[in-house]
Amino acid sequence: MRITMIGAGYVGLVSGACFSDFGHDVTCVDLDQKKIERLERGQIPIYEPGLETLVAENAKAGRLSFTTDLASAVSGADVVFIAVGTPSRRGDGHADLSFVHAAAADIAKALDGFTVIVTKSTVPVGTGDDVERIIAQTRPDADFVVVSNPEFLREGAAIEDFKRPDRIVVGLEDQRARPVMEEVYRPLYLNQSPLMFTGRRTAELIKYAANGFLAMKITFINEMADLCEKAGGDVQAVARGIGLDNRIGSKFLNAGPGYGGSCFPKDTLALVKTGQDFDAPLRLIETTVAVNDHRKRAMGRKVISACGGDVRGKTIGILGLTFKPNTDDMRDAPSIAIIQALRDAGAIVRAYDPEGMEAAKTVLEGVQYAKDAYDAANGADCLVLVTEWNQFRSLDLKRVKQAMTAPVLVDLRNVYRRHEVEAAGLSYVSVGRAQDVAELDTHGVAAQ
Ligand code: UDX
Repeated sequence: MRITMIGAGYVGLVSGACFSDFGHDVTCVDLDQKKIERLERGQIPIYEPGLETLVAENAKAGRLSFTTDLASAVSGADVVFIAVGTPSRRGDGHADLSFVHAAAADIAKALDGFTVIVTKSTVPVGTGDDVERIIAQTRPDADFVVVSNPEFLREGAAIEDFKRPDRIVVGLEDQRARPVMEEVYRPLYLNQSPLMFTGRRTAELIKYAANGFLAMKITFINEMADLCEKAGGDVQAVARGIGLDNRIGSKFLNAGPGYGGSCFPKDTLALVKTGQDFDAPLRLIETTVAVNDHRKRAMGRKVISACGGDVRGKTIGILGLTFKPNTDDMRDAPSIAIIQALRDAGAIVRAYDPEGMEAAKTVLEGVQYAKDAYDAANGADCLVLVTEWNQFRSLDLKRVKQAMTAPVLVDLRNVYRRHEVEAAGLSYVSVGRAQDVAELDTHGVAAQ
């Protein structure tokens, strides 16, 4: 099957590489000449475990190629995926569809024979209709169908997610696309991954509903964490206690500094806008967005209070800048708001991240960068674990303490246990674990 992927960004590159690994003949198209040249040399513009090898192997086997020439890649393709960006539109939070619309018009001009056009970009409900209209207007003679096939990849685990999906959602209005999409996903289909066919609008809504629900789940446990801190409880035990109920499920119940990344913040905002447009307001998602925004800034205040209420002139070490581990992505990372709050309060910030420091330099001002975790702790009055990279999970806490001016660890991902941190001579602040204090503090904080 000949597949063309428009957009060699995160989704396009991962999906293109995985489809070629399934044995399809894949061409990835991008407007960015430099990016394409680098990809041809085997250089991957993003950090994603396993991607470099996957691209190299499939390019070597002749199944994966890169080009800026959209027309030649589209003519003769059986399936054309649109995987361009849909950022938040400045000002109103709607998804900006200009790249999708432009791709549709460019594809239309080059169509040759029956072609299935698939939107993989996250697009608001009704975008498939727009794409169909644009193509039909540009090329009234074209023989094509438009399908919605949202992706559910998590950064840092994208290849694993692609190859072992919980489900594949395919929204279509014309049944001619069905056997084509079954063929595209044949290896997964044979492997019993659920391939779910729906109407196109339903598929578009499923993507937003999934991200909205997950963002809400995280926000719920974050608010429960605040309650645990004040009322005396352990949010991790609460999460386990509710998560074991199959109707709730145990995943996405890790309390932390708030969700960030390239998807949840923009997709929740776009979902809110869609709800308003259709006069079907999604109040739970509206609240989720507001609570999460507030939380990121509140985490800065939590650090300041762990430092005794004043950080002026103090050095704060930051461990982890990316919005989550195993990525170099800084988009909407909680670290940005936290560092901003600390700098506004007069702190000197000294940060380390295994992969994110280059990207961080473009979004953060006035931050000193350390060469490793211990260097970030060096001379610090407080060390804040913001992103739970594996290398931060097993720090030599005694060495950390020796490096610091004042030994305070603020663990915003609940990676450590209080007793081990305190045993190393550091004082410890985590998220939603007052019960943890109660268990170990003989003077007693309210026990349940
Ligand atoms: C997400 C969805 O998981 C994926 O299906 C979709 O296609 C794109 O958006 P991603 O943004 O890569 O993927 O990261 P994810 O692992 O979902 O984490 C998102 C944010 O939520 C991160 O900031 C993470 O730290 C936070 N999070 C996640 C929590 O705070 N607690 C949790 O329990 C889970």
